[in-house]
Amino acid sequence: MNRLNIGLIGYGTVGQGVIKMLRTRENFIRNKFNTEFTIKAICDRSIHQKNTRGLAKTNLTTNYLEVINDPEINVVIELVGGMHPSYEIIGGALRSGKHVVTANKELLAQKGEELFTEAKKKNKAIYFESSVGAGVPIIKMITEGLAGNKFNAIYGIINGTCNFILTEMTKNNWTFSQALKEAQARGYAERNPALDVNGIDTAHKLSILVFLALGKSIKLNDIYIEGITHISHVDIEHAESLGLSIKLLAIAKRVKNQIEVRVQPTLIAKDHPLASVNGIFNAILIDTDPLGDILLYGQGAGQMAAASGVVSDLINLAARNNSPSTIMVGNLFQDISTFKLREIDQIKTKFYLRFMAIDKPGVLAKITGILGEHGIGIASVTQKESKKSSTVPVVMLTDLATESMVRLSLQQITRLSVVKSKPVAIRMEKL
Ligand code: HSE
Repeated sequence: MNRLNIGLIGYGTVGQGVIKMLRTRENFIRNKFNTEFTIKAICDRSIHQKNTRGLAKTNLTTNYLEVINDPEINVVIELVGGMHPSYEIIGGALRSGKHVVTANKELLAQKGEELFTEAKKKNKAIYFESSVGAGVPIIKMITEGLAGNKFNAIYGIINGTCNFILTEMTKNNWTFSQALKEAQARGYAERNPALDVNGIDTAHKLSILVFLALGKSIKLNDIYIEGITHISHVDIEHAESLGLSIKLLAIAKRVKNQIEVRVQPTLIAKDHPLASVNGIFNAILIDTDPLGDILLYGQGAGQMAAASGVVSDLINLAARNNSPSTIMVGNLFQDISTFKLREIDQIKTKFYLRFMAIDKPGVLAKITGILGEHGIGIASVTQKESKKSSTVPVVMLTDLATESMVRLSLQQITRLSVVKSKPVAIRMEKL
């Protein structure tokens, strides 16, 4: 029988989900995996205000040092989130010879290299399945199932909150704020929802995937990040009528010896499988060699979805307790790649552009003239008649265009007196 003593730090939504799952699956885990987990300690700053029924034998504390210094504990689960004190908790747990399970994408994205080096030094493992896609097993898929593959591209819908917001805006004709409120009420969003809607949470997760898949350790500042706060219902409707859907995509692609890494609202064909990923569901499409395309889909946010990933980490850890997988303590977060990051200005994509312009002859010619001067071809133009106001939305789809040229043209177009608000530009991606 494998026996592991657990210390859990962070008894919030996910922490409580993990305890619930461990307790309700106790016999299942014992019978199927020959493994017994004992919950030795739970630490939370408001542990005494929380429901701890059935945990009489567990040390319930507000001091995380009691957990990381307890010699009987083998594995520390960190579910506090954010940088501090999670950094001190994980570092301290490793230094006192404990394995770590965490769902902390922000910390791994920023300090992963250092923490994995520490783990390797101590021959301990850090497991982090729930850091990306909650229980959707993307980490194990990349590190184990696809271990011998090379990776050409990753396209991910990896923030449940943003995907939920875009879905609700489309389905219910809601504004962004209405949909965000609903996501918060359902407990999907981060404590600070700006991390979700500004694309930062997606970027944290993408940097973990890029490292695992491409061996490239990238700083958050090197990722081009755009969130969804500027997406309006007008654009969702236009996209729909053009046969397109808007998704917040995490994109990493190899282009010769460079990689493009970006997070952005992206227009994709409505009949592509990623376009039908709705609500809090996440999906990650990976183009690998020699396997080809592989698509993983499932619930990427929520209490039990995240608990599922943490419990799978614990079971894996128990099976390898005395010989942590070399994948998990190997060269993770050491930059073994020679790929250079491609600057956003050099990236070429097709664009959806929307201008709010005065409805009079010659306006279209002025706009297309500026685009033409910058070498940007137009694939289609739509202008719907407006009965209510003197400005109308003019929507254009461009041919492939370089980012820097699009930016320059939009600056000039914004200055035209016939254009009444800041143009909207959304990149399109052919998957
Ligand atoms: N706020 C995150 C999301 C939770 O919406 O995806 C899971 O990481």
